[in-house]
Amino acid sequence: MKTMLNVALPKGRLGEKVYAMFEKAGFPCPSIKENNRKLIFENQDVGVRYFWVKPSDVAIYVERGAADIGVAGKDILDEYKPDIYELLDLNMGKCDMCVAAKSDFVDDRAKTLTVATKFTNIAKAHYASLGRDIDIIHLNGSIEIAPILELADVIVDIVETGTTLKENNLVVVERFMPISARLIANKANFMFKNEQIEKIMSSLLEQTEK
Ligand code: PRP
Repeated sequence: MKTMLNVALPKGRLGEKVYAMFEKAGFPCPSIKENNRKLIFENQDVGVRYFWVKPSDVAIYVERGAADIGVAGKDILDEYKPDIYELLDLNMGKCDMCVAAKSDFVDDRAKTLTVATKFTNIAKAHYASLGRDIDIIHLNGSIEIAPILELADVIVDIVETGTTLKENNLVVVERFMPISARLIANKANFMFKNEQIEKIMSSLLEQTEK
C-alpha cells in the first residue's frame, strides 16, 4: 500500500478551490465531491487522505503531525506562530488585517486605546510597534459590534470585500498587514514524505503563477 499523505483543508470556499488544485497536482479524491457532511476522504490509489477542518485549526493539525500538509491563512500563522514550515504563498484568499472604527472616531493619543479583536497577538504587536498603550478585549466573532456598543474604541480584524464594515457603519482606519493563504507542512513529515510534498508544491507553484 502507498504511504498516505494527510492533507488538512480549510472548510469553505477557499478549501474547495485548494482541493481543485491538489486534484490537478495528481492527488484526486472523487468521493470528496459526493458527500458534504463527511469530514475525511481518501483515495488509496494515489495515496492521499483529505480532511476538512475549521480554517483556524489547520495549523494545529499540521503542527502536531495529524496532517502532513495543509492550507492556512497568514493571519493564523502570525497570530499563533505554529512550529511548521511555510512552503508556499498560494496568492489566494487575499485580504488585509485592519484597524477599523466608527466613522466619527477621533483618536485621543493621550488615552489608552481599547481594541477588540480575535487576533490578540497581532493587535498587541502592531500597537507595540507604534509605541501605543492599549487595552485588549478578546472576542471570538462579530467583532464589528464592539465599537457600535462602545465596548471598544477600535477593532483589529480581517477585511476582504469591506461589506461587513460598511453594513455596520464602520470604516477602515489603517490597513497594516496583507494576508493570503499559505501551504504549510509538518516539519518531520516534510522529510518523510518529501517526494509527495515536493510534487504538490511544484504543481501548486505552477498553478498559482498562471
Ligand atoms: C471575517 C472578518 C469579518 C469578515 C470580513 O469573518 O472577521 O467579519 O470576514 O469580510 P468582508 O470584508 O468581505 O465583509 P469570517 O467570515 O472569517 O467569520 P468569523 O467572524 O466567524 O471568523
